[in-house]
Amino acid sequence: MTDPALYRKHLEALDRWLGEALEHSKRQGLALDGVLFHAGELVYYHADDQPVVFHPAPHFVRWTPLGGPDHCVLARPGRKPIVIRVAPRDYWYEHAALAPSYWQDSVELREVTGPEQIPALIGSLDRIAYVGSSPEAASRFGIDADRIEPLALLAVLDWHRATKTDHELALIAQASRRAADGHRVARKAFEAGASEREIHWAYLQATGHLEQELPFEAIVALDEKASVLHYQNKRGADDAPGKVFLLDAGASCDGYASDITRTWIRDGLEPVFEQLLMSVDELQRDLVAMVTPGRPYPEIHRAAQAALVRALADHGIIERDVDQAAAMSLARTFMPHGVGHHLGIQVHDIGGRQAGPDGGVVPPPEGDPWLRNTRRLEPGHVVTVEPGVYFVPMLLDELKQKPEGKLVDWSLVEKLIPCGGIRIEDDVVCTPSAPKDLTRPLLQGPRGV
Ligand code: GLY
Ligand code: MN
Ligand code: MN
Repeated sequence: MTDPALYRKHLEALDRWLGEALEHSKRQGLALDGVLFHAGELVYYHADDQPVVFHPAPHFVRWTPLGGPDHCVLARPGRKPIVIRVAPRDYWYEHAALAPSYWQDSVELREVTGPEQIPALIGSLDRIAYVGSSPEAASRFGIDADRIEPLALLAVLDWHRATKTDHELALIAQASRRAADGHRVARKAFEAGASEREIHWAYLQATGHLEQELPFEAIVALDEKASVLHYQNKRGADDAPGKVFLLDAGASCDGYASDITRTWIRDGLEPVFEQLLMSVDELQRDLVAMVTPGRPYPEIHRAAQAALVRALADHGIIERDVDQAAAMSLARTFMPHGVGHHLGIQVHDIGGRQAGPDGGVVPPPEGDPWLRNTRRLEPGHVVTVEPGVYFVPMLLDELKQKPEGKLVDWSLVEKLIPCGGIRIEDDVVCTPSAPKDLTRPLLQGPRGV
């Protein structure tokens, strides 16, 4: 997937950031030698022996692509990380020997048959902090409560998660290629008249993913369902074919995600919807060009709202001359979400609202509580840029009751409601110069470019 040299350099960066986090903890009165990153434990459905799909804890994933529960990484600055694989002697599940991979020579790989053997393997855990999802496991390891996810430590680690190493960028690019393969096949299935379910199956097959391996539940929406922002159902043949198809779906590579949305249409649609789709595609490209170092991400959000209001006026959906307050209200009705977020191990990657490496929060702009990224962009940040326009009956009903509702051509809106909505989402790397769009070179937009 990636090469050993990139992974080694990645570990060097993690080692630096870990050192910084430990220094910061020390200044806050907590002297530590290292951190035990825990993948987490299986969680079971209530009164059942069926486990919930397991996702290793993100900070653990950053150190190793080793999937599965119970594994740990012991990281201490200046020393090779110790990766502890838990492979029980068990004939119910498979715990086959690991195939050689790019990362194994850069770590000390140890194997135990149960998590209870981990403390003995490590030796003293007196000055080791725990980062992971199970405080119970941490106390079983003998780690005191004040060393379980201490805030001073976590803030520094979370902050640096936003800056991707070249190794991470390679994995996100690979995840993007995988998702783009799925999007292309899904589009063909839509054009052939497939249902949401069938399109979803086509997507899984083309990406080679099992359902539970996707980084988030794919949003496969035909027609009016495209207005449900995180539409989670997949309808069958009774509701197909559709005329509008919104697919918001990603793929994974060694624990790193892509997150891509495209909207496609078929003939016979209200022509204004098609024009609007072209406008969203165009304004999305302008927003991608704004992913430059030093820019506070909310500027891109504001630019999206302004461009959206212009597009709505261009297509006669709203009046042209609207004051600022009305414009914001209209923008929030027709695009009731933030224009993007950090992307990495998590689809909505951690730290998007963090004020600095010491912690603190930069709140979203007044009136836009959904914006997940309020940080200033830096080289190495990977963000999504995902403007949209939606005809959400619930929000439109509310708008009708407001004074700015008079600025809307409601007979046109009635014709657009069955079309659902539009979203175009690319994954974009902030670089010292021009932004690098990971998605566009792989996947055309509705204009065919
Ligand atoms: N797929 C969810 C999102 O775009 O944020
Ligand atoms: Mn997204
Ligand atoms: Mn998405």
